[in-house]
Order: sequence, then C-alpha cells, then structure tokens
Amino acid sequence: MSESDVGKLIASARLARHHACADFSRFKVGAALETADGQIVTGCNIENATFGLTVCAERVAMFKALSEGHRTFTRLVVVADTPAPTPPCGACRQVIWEFAGDIEVVLANLSEQQGRYWLRDLLPLPFDRRLL
Ligand code: THU
Repeated sequence: MSESDVGKLIASARLARHHACADFSRFKVGAALETADGQIVTGCNIENATFGLTVCAERVAMFKALSEGHRTFTRLVVVADTPAPTPPCGACRQVIWEFAGDIEVVLANLSEQQGRYWLRDLLPLPFDRRLL
C-alpha cells in the first residue's frame, strides 16, 4: 500500500467523522477500515442518551464491513480533532483483533498523521478463539 493510499484512508475517516452522533460528549471520531481488496468502509461514533449504548467509530466501521460481507482487513485509521492521538478503546481493540487480527492502526487528527501501530502492540496477550 502506498502513502497516498494511507492518505486516502485518513481523508475518508475525516469525512466520516462529520457524521458522528456525539451530542453528549461533543467528541467526534471517524474511522476508516481498509479491506484486503482495497475497499474502504467508514464509521463514526454513535452516542445515546443512556451513554452506555454508545458505539465507537471503530466498531461501527467494523460492524458495517462485516454486515456487508467483508472478512479480511489490512488497516484501520482513527481520526479525532485533538492534539494528542486518539487510540481505540479496549473494547474496540478486542473486536478489531477478533475480526481483523494484527492489522496496522493509523492515528490522525484533522491536520496530520500522529502515529502508526500494530494491533498486537496495542493489545498484548489477547483473549481469542484460539483459547476456547
Ligand atoms: N470514541 C470513539 O469513537 N473512538 C475512540 O477511539 C475513542 C472514543 C468515542 C466514544 C464516545 O462517543 C466519545 O468518543 C467519547 O468517549
């Protein structure tokens, strides 16, 4: 994958962020998931008045992708409007690991790329189906 492809993925996550339903936290997040065949599936955070039913942008993107039949993924971008990078929460790390495995996670804000990680480093010693 070229750097311009990463740039395209970041741009998609920034656009998706505009659709965030974040009336409670005001913290808008966008995510873009790259499939193995080069398609992009986006997500944004969806909040709810009960707070606890909130779903993060990363899981929205993953569940959209799975529901559309995608099963193999290569990269995930997370975008927020913050000076420090916004990494996936623990719940999202688990879901991403179980459905995508050790993909690259790229963090960015509205103006720059802030870091690139492997999921195995963000979720060491994961619990997954191999342990059942
Ligand atoms: N959020 C995400 O969507 N992704 C992250 O990586 C961190 C947090 C959302 C959840 C909630 O809607 C808001 O950001 C504040 O936590």
